[in-house]
This record gives sequence, C-alpha cells and structure tokens, in this order.
Amino acid sequence: MTAPVTVAIDGPSGSGKSTISRRLAAAEGLAYLDTGAMYRAATWWCRRQDVELTDTAAVAAATEVMPLDMGVDPGDPTITCDGVDITAAIRLSEISSVVSAVATNLDVRAQLRERQRAIIAAERQPGGHSGGRGIVAEGRDITTVVAPDADVRILLTADEAARLARRARELHGTVDDQAIAATRDEVVGRDAQDSTVSTFLTAADGVVTIDSSALDIDQTLAVVRRVVAQARQEEQ
Ligand code: DC
Repeated sequence: MTAPVTVAIDGPSGSGKSTISRRLAAAEGLAYLDTGAMYRAATWWCRRQDVELTDTAAVAAATEVMPLDMGVDPGDPTITCDGVDITAAIRLSEISSVVSAVATNLDVRAQLRERQRAIIAAERQPGGHSGGRGIVAEGRDITTVVAPDADVRILLTADEAARLARRARELHGTVDDQAIAATRDEVVGRDAQDSTVSTFLTAADGVVTIDSSALDIDQTLAVVRRVVAQARQEEQ
C-alpha cells in the first residue's frame, strides 16, 4: 500500500483552490477538507446562538463547543452543525459578508487549527474516510500554520483580473463591467481583511506556487496532479 499523503493548498478567493482541491481529492482517492467552510460554520453557529460577532471572547467561547461535523467526501462534502445540514446556508451572502470577523479572531483560529489537524491526522489512519490514503486540505494557512509539514504544499494564485472575472461569473453569472465592480469589494476587500492574520498571498519556503491566471480548471488540475505525483515519487 502507498504511504498516506497530505496535500495542503492555499490561495486567495477566486484562485480556484476549492474546485481544484475537490477535484484533486476525487481523482486521487483522497479525503477533502474545506477549512474556509469551518470559519463559515463558526459564523453560522454564532449567529444562531445570538452571539455578537464583535464580542471576541463570546465568539471564541461559542466556537469552542460548536458541534460541527465536517464531511470530507469530495463527492459530497456535507457540513452538519448541531444536526442541521448547513452546506448551502454557509455560502449565503449574509455569512460571506461577516465571516472575516470570525476568521480574524485569534482564539477561534487556534481552536479550528486543532480541529483541522485532527481531521488531517485521522485521514492518515486506516479508519478515516479515505481508508488511510490521506487528504487534500485547502484554505489560507494550511501550508504555513495548520500543516507546514504536509507532503505537498501548493500556493494557487491568479492575478486580480482573473480572480475577479471568475468570482463575477460565479456570483452574477456574467463578467460585464457592473458585475466586475460589484465583485471587486467582495474579492479584493475580503482578502485584504483576511491577510491581516495570514500571509496567503506569497509562498512560504518550500511551497510550490502555481499561477492559474491563464489556465482553465482542467489545465490547472493537470499541473497540480503533476506536482503531487512528483512529490510522491521523490518520497519513495
Ligand atoms: O475560502 P472561504 O471564502 O470559504 O473562506 C471563508 C473565510 O475564512 C474567509 O474570510 C477566509 C477565511 N479563512 C481563513 O482565514 N483561514 C483558512 N484556512 C480558510 C479560510
């Protein structure tokens, strides 16, 4: 049996990291962890508990006991909190617009980092969803903080124009001037806010940077799979 593999992928919004990570996990038979969804889930949970997001201590206290179940099947990454399927709810703009307040809470980050590490470790064991094959974990600080010793570490980037166009198509179904303008605040503004707590815009030492600006999804996936295959070969 091949050794378990942990693939860490970081990048800004619109870089394509979620799509690529999920497809990579499916293609390689690995589990998939969307760490951004965990910050979104914590936001959903705090709102449900009527916790004021500016009250950092209350947010941390609520998140500590959050009954979160992160699905790691790349074909169906269902997220459940307190028995409620929140997979779709955490993508709504009412969460997206305030999630940074939770993602920049350092106590919450420390807690979720430990939960993320536990999920990653479980996937290296035979009892995990992947049967011990490993996991693709994606986010903003996976290559640097959560899993700096991952077998493969990738920073997926794209220039601002490409990221804006992708998000505009996703959110508004078009890339006309109006859609781009409406998307600008969301993509550039949120990344600026988030980058106050993690440095996901430049690669740390030993992290492979892949620029997807001029690549479509299939081309990007092919490059990423080559990097993974090479790293696994070097390990043998
Ligand atoms: O990738 P996303 O939009 O689902 O991420 C949601 C929020 O969580 C966003 O504000 C970035 C933040 N995040 C983070 O700070 N660290 C991570 N590892 C993943 C996401």
